[in-house]
Amino acid sequence: MCAIRVFHLIFILVLSSTVTTTCAGKKITDSDNEDPVENPDPFEQNKRIGRGINLGNALEAPKEGDWGVVLRQEYFKLIKDAGFQSVRIPIRWSNHAQVDSPYIISPTFFNRVDWAIIQARNNGLAAIINIHHYEEIMEHPSVHKKRYLGLWHQIANRYKDEPLDLFFEILNEPNNQLTPALWNEYLVEGLQVIRESNTQRTVIIGTANWGGLGSLTELQVPVDDPYLIVTFHYYNPFQFTHQGAEWVSGSEAWLGTTWTGTTSQKQAVVNDLNLAFSWASQNDRPLFMGEFGAYSKAAMDSRVRWTEFVRSEADKRGFSWAYWEFCSGFGAYDLNQNNWRTELLQALIPPESP
Ligand code: BGC
Repeated sequence: MCAIRVFHLIFILVLSSTVTTTCAGKKITDSDNEDPVENPDPFEQNKRIGRGINLGNALEAPKEGDWGVVLRQEYFKLIKDAGFQSVRIPIRWSNHAQVDSPYIISPTFFNRVDWAIIQARNNGLAAIINIHHYEEIMEHPSVHKKRYLGLWHQIANRYKDEPLDLFFEILNEPNNQLTPALWNEYLVEGLQVIRESNTQRTVIIGTANWGGLGSLTELQVPVDDPYLIVTFHYYNPFQFTHQGAEWVSGSEAWLGTTWTGTTSQKQAVVNDLNLAFSWASQNDRPLFMGEFGAYSKAAMDSRVRWTEFVRSEADKRGFSWAYWEFCSGFGAYDLNQNNWRTELLQALIPPESP
């Protein structure tokens, strides 16, 4: 990989303005301008993602609202005004689609996703949509493979005419029975379905074993597809970032774990991110740290220190990133007070940054 590309830390975002329509037809936005910056080069596209935030706990809850977050128009503006360039929108399609072939996705739900994409675009934010929390495919991959491909067939067709500020991420955190070996097969098949309608769309592919760095070496990225970004999630040390997390059994015992930024704590992060960097260099692929964050049960000063350090080390290596997440349990934004948690926000977007 060209080192200049990797160390190229100036993020440029030039998005065309679009006129939106609510039509749920082929194209959800109606832009007559031929965007001169549309460049499918994945390294350029990775700069377009730049600094992002996950709109977590909304569309990937069993039903939007079940986990306390209903997306609102103003969130997109808040995010843009705070200095972010992109939003990752996790989506649980599997709860809104027929169980049997042809696995039709609910039109109402599709309209809701259209709406979210339009809000992102209207605010000059790139949008990443994925398949999130498809838990059934993790348990019984072969039973759900056709359905997963059927979902992508519909999603890819729906958005095939959208500008390149819309990114597709094939599957969040493959795990359990969807082993690294099986994932290498399923990702190729998912990509083939997407490429039938989206030849140059930037597609994001993550690692197996819950999206961690450790599985990068097992990931086989299709060599003949130039329009790919690779993603990993970063939550190390897990006992710090997930202390008290209700969905992680045993994590109560980790409460009180701090991250003070000792030399060895920092070195551990640096070592991890160096591994990712060398993988990216050897494989000539841009990297997106698609989730990182520390849960609210950790002390705020530790969370801020960790977030600032991880974010800045990612920046140094030219990774794009998306903080997990906007306004829920890891939230950089406080929905009750209606304001940003300033220290966390500044750890992500330093005040002096452009
Ligand atoms: C999961 C969330 C979880 C987060 C941190 C995400 O990938 O979808 O439910 O809160 O990781 O554990």
